[in-house]
Amino acid sequence: MGIVGAGPAGLTLARLLENAGIESVVLEARSREYCEARIRAGVLEQGVVDLLREAGVGERLGREGLVHRGISLQFDGERHRIPLGELTGGRTIVVYGQTEVTKDLIAARLASGLPLLFEAEATGVEGLDTTRPRIRYRHAGADREVECDVIAGCDGFHGISRAALPAGVLHEFSREYPYGWLGILASVRPSIDELVYAHTERGFALLSLRSPTQSRYYLQCAPDENLHTWPDERIWDELEARTTVPGWELERGPILEKDVTRMRSYVCEPMRHGRLFLAGDAAHIVPPTGAKGLNLAIHDVRLLAEALVRFYESGDETLLDAYSDACLRRVWRAEHFSWWMTTMLHPPPNADPFDLRLQRSQLRYVTTSEAQARSLAENYVGLEVV
Ligand code: FAD
Ligand code: PHB
Repeated sequence: MGIVGAGPAGLTLARLLENAGIESVVLEARSREYCEARIRAGVLEQGVVDLLREAGVGERLGREGLVHRGISLQFDGERHRIPLGELTGGRTIVVYGQTEVTKDLIAARLASGLPLLFEAEATGVEGLDTTRPRIRYRHAGADREVECDVIAGCDGFHGISRAALPAGVLHEFSREYPYGWLGILASVRPSIDELVYAHTERGFALLSLRSPTQSRYYLQCAPDENLHTWPDERIWDELEARTTVPGWELERGPILEKDVTRMRSYVCEPMRHGRLFLAGDAAHIVPPTGAKGLNLAIHDVRLLAEALVRFYESGDETLLDAYSDACLRRVWRAEHFSWWMTTMLHPPPNADPFDLRLQRSQLRYVTTSEAQARSLAENYVGLEVV
């Protein structure tokens, strides 16, 4: 197996294959330090936590991951708790940074002494219609090639794998949103026990966390927002203005990182061509409001690993043939949920009173109707069947 990309998708796939006795090589364009420092997602669905644990990479996650049984939606200056656990028969989410998941997977791979090449940039995939496809890559100043049975394109949204699908085969579906998120990681005790998604006329804000001593907070901003216009004081003032409720205070602290993320929905169909299988962000992305990106990537590779195990055991390609459709059912559910959360919580840049009233009405409905709250909750913790 050749795996392009050592993000959560590529690394988890490599681990699942290792456990099944299937050899793989992982090629990663960036350095180990870069991969381990890249701050991204923070919420894991219960099913994903269970998978990582069963794969033998959940030990630190079990110790340090923070189990959350609810989230809050804030609007009109009031917080409303959605009790995820109660509404989903006890299912929960775990707050554990993507950086930590990545570190655990890299450490496990290296401890097993299996091939994971950093600073090895894939430049092309070829022979996809044959039984010996090839990955071309550059490593240590030389052009190289690796021949495999199957290639997994786990190289994220800007990777090279998706581009190998012929134009007549590839169908793309996308939506750009007129806003982005300005995120900060701050060295301060989180001012909340559970995540708060806040809707205000000034824009959306999210209060999240990484650990008992690190807070991760976000502000809705322009997609091309200039970070230089956001000194720390302005960020804290704006966070406070958007999240304030009576009797509660936002604690400030040193800001360690600032970043701006664009918001986009994208799906490519099918997720397979010949012996190339796409997984994770290489095939689909969601706006982060539903916390689904990382979780979807892991669901893809779970299915891919099952299909590959069947293939290597008996030559049976049924599951490989079913891979794309099976993934896309969950992908489209997550696309809808993420779009729905995003459009409910972010006032458009020139929002008129009609827009704002529709959003508030929807938020009130979600927080007062048990049926609506349950629908949000089951999507948020991750559906078992899609
Ligand atoms: P990636 O994590 O993108 O991994 C792909 C890997 O492939 C990378 O390591 C890359 O260096 C490597 N690669 C690329 N090209 C090549 C090549 N040619 N050769 C070799 N290697 C290559 N999701 C959330 O749920 N919440 C969030 O807050 C959130 N924030 C995000 C912020 C940003 C800036 C981004 C980009 C994404 C964010 N996401 C978030 C989404 C989530 O992080 C992704 O869904 C998740 O990383 C997907 O994992 P992946 O393994 O598919 O792709
Ligand atoms: C995060 O902690 O980074 C986070 C949490 C929830 C989201 C998005 C990002 O919906």
